[in-house]
Amino acid sequence: MKTIIEPFKIKSIEPIKFTTKEERAKILEDAGYNPFLIHSDDVLIDLLTDSGTSAMSSKQWAGIMDGDEAYAGSKSFYRFESMVKKITGHKFIIPTHQGRAAEKIIFSITGGPGKFFPNNTHFDTTRANIEFTGAEAVDLLNEIGKHPEQRADFKGNMDVDALEDFIKKVGRENIPFVMLTVTNNSGGGQPVSMQNIKDVRKICDRYELPLFLDACRFAENAYFIKKREKGYENKSILEICQEMFSYSDGATMSAKKDALVNIGGFLSLNDETLAMNCRNLLIVTEGFPTYGGLAGRDLEAVAQGLDEVLDEHYLQYRIRSIEYLGEKLLNGGVPIIEPPGGHAVYIDAKRFLPNIKPEQYPGQSIVCELYIEGGIRAVEIGSVMFGKKDKKTGKFIPAMMELVRLAIPRRVYTQSHIDYVAEVCLEVYNNRKKLKGYEIIYEAPMLRHFTARFKPL
Ligand code: F0G
Repeated sequence: MKTIIEPFKIKSIEPIKFTTKEERAKILEDAGYNPFLIHSDDVLIDLLTDSGTSAMSSKQWAGIMDGDEAYAGSKSFYRFESMVKKITGHKFIIPTHQGRAAEKIIFSITGGPGKFFPNNTHFDTTRANIEFTGAEAVDLLNEIGKHPEQRADFKGNMDVDALEDFIKKVGRENIPFVMLTVTNNSGGGQPVSMQNIKDVRKICDRYELPLFLDACRFAENAYFIKKREKGYENKSILEICQEMFSYSDGATMSAKKDALVNIGGFLSLNDETLAMNCRNLLIVTEGFPTYGGLAGRDLEAVAQGLDEVLDEHYLQYRIRSIEYLGEKLLNGGVPIIEPPGGHAVYIDAKRFLPNIKPEQYPGQSIVCELYIEGGIRAVEIGSVMFGKKDKKTGKFIPAMMELVRLAIPRRVYTQSHIDYVAEVCLEVYNNRKKLKGYEIIYEAPMLRHFTARFKPL
């Protein structure tokens, strides 16, 4: 087998700025040891997120020039709509400015106090949009998905028995719809199998419930199905995507991931009345139904990106580049969620720094050291993000896992960038005995990880 290469040439480049270790130590201190507060031009390799950070193709940039900016009935909308229909098979396509705008609309209409939305694992914005309406977001992940060190092909699967028990417990009339997040971002970018989608569909049919996909990374999920699930090896990625969506009644999508653009999203639906209600809310909050908070040029870029993401050479390179980083870390002894996911490698900070207690934020400690050592920006997904204080006793309640996510932007970094990232991670790991915990000295009442300030202990 020959080296899997980047399936593109580079036509336009963006220089990255080098800083010294001393400069970075000062920059980090000024940012309160919170990488969210670092200016991006002080970052050498930015692995904060894979969202909105893709490099667009020359055809997408050409589409930007060609976008039709008509307020109503833009030709770019119709190109976008027909591409989304081709992949999802859904009847009504509603553009939004990003994923959470689609979530806001659908949950405002279907949510409310007393309602429940089951999912394999809700992403934070999905959970926040559900809870904002007074409804409850419920995670029903398969047991294997909760164990970072155990390998399985489809660790994003929903626990189907738990779903049925849950429906019986709260009553089908209190569940507006069931959701599946493909791939499961909060659980390590792990895929959901076609069998699991079918099994969830069967339960939904039994209780007459609609099924929605949180489809941000649908193409990466389809590639895993092709590679790992029997019967799909000879199907095209488009066919697999079409089958995945065929079991669903609707989807929310952040085009900032698998549509390879910097902004955009959509809500797709089969139910006409629901679509009409969503469009009416869209007009109030986002814009007219043929642009929905986007420019015509953005819709053009999304349509082109959705076409390009189905290319198997692209997906092979994409999934392999994450696996490649995962292998290098594992070979160096760095504990990660296994196997590596579709868009990111997640370092297991609990096993990396067993001597730093969750209340001293081991993930934050690794994130800070990655920046100082190599100018790499990652994100803590652990007790900084999800830790709580007991309202009565003030006692610290840790997150379920202490993770550091290295999310890889699409088509942005080359193999040597990834080699460099692995070298820095190994260096930090080999010096792990020197790492210290952190304490929070400022935090906002909600979503504190974005603006918190820290002090090393
Ligand atoms: N659903 C999932 C599974 C996501 O990962 C995201 C965003 C959203 C919904 C919301 O989409 O950002 O366009 O509003 N995830 C980004 C991340 C922010 O870094 O993982 P959005």
